[in-house]
Amino acid sequence: MISLDNRLGSVLDIFPSCRLAADIGADHGKLALALVSEGKAEKVIVTDISRDSLRKAETLFAAHNASHLAVFVLGDGMTVLPETPDAVSMCGMGGKTISRILENGIPRIYGAEVILSPHTEIPIVRQTVYRLGYHITSERCVVASGRFYVILSAKPGHETISEEEMELGPCLYRHRDDPVVKDYYLWRAKVLSAGRNETSKEKAGWYFNAL
Ligand SMILES: C[S@@+](CC[C@H](N)C(=O)[O-])C[C@H]1O[C@@H](n2cnc3c(N)ncnc32)[C@H](O)[C@@H]1O
Repeated sequence: MISLDNRLGSVLDIFPSCRLAADIGADHGKLALALVSEGKAEKVIVTDISRDSLRKAETLFAAHNASHLAVFVLGDGMTVLPETPDAVSMCGMGGKTISRILENGIPRIYGAEVILSPHTEIPIVRQTVYRLGYHITSERCVVASGRFYVILSAKPGHETISEEEMELGPCLYRHRDDPVVKDYYLWRAKVLSAGRNETSKEKAGWYFNAL
C-alpha cells in the first residue's frame, strides 16, 4: 500500500476505474503505483520528460513488485503514449504546461477522461478543456502542506460556460458552501484584489460575491 497526501489521495479518489490509465509527468510514480495497487486500473502508462524522474518511478514500482503492471515512457506529454488510455492524469505541473500538453494530446486520446491538478493558472486549464471539446464533470479543492489544490476531471462533450464559471470553476461554485472551497475563494479574492489591473479586481469581485 502506497501512502498519498491529501492532494494525490483526492486524485486517486476521483480517478475512474478503468483498464488502462496513464499518468503524465509521474515523477516519483506514487499516483501511478496507487492506481494499479488500489485496483483503479489494470495497467498504467507512466511518463515523464525527465529521465531521472522516470527512473524514480521505475524504482518505486520495482520495490513494490509491480513493474509488470506498468509501461514506462520517456518524453513530452501525451505525444509519447504507445496506445490510447481510458483515463489520463496530469498533476503537479503549471497550468500553461498542462494546457499545452492537452492541446497537443487531446486529438490523440479523444474519448479518454482527463484528471488534472495544475499548480497554477487553473482558469487557463479550464478554458483549454472547453476549447478542445471537453467539459468539466467534477472539481474538488483540498489543502495539502498548507496549500490549496484544485483537482478537476473532464470528459468529452461540448458545453458553454461563462467567463465567471471559467474562473470560479463550474463544479466548485456549486459547492461554495464547503468550508475548504470558501477558504479557497476567500484566498483567491484577496490575491486578485491586490492586483493592479481592473480585470483582477473584477475577478476578485466574482469570488467575494460567491462567499
Ligand atoms: C512537480 S512534479 C509532479 C509529480 C506528480 N505528478 C505529482 O503531482 O506529485 C512535475 C513532473 O512533471 C514532469 N514534466 C514537466 N513537463 C513535462 C512534460 N511536458 N511531459 C512530461 N512530463 C513533464 C517533470 O519532469 C516532473 O517530474
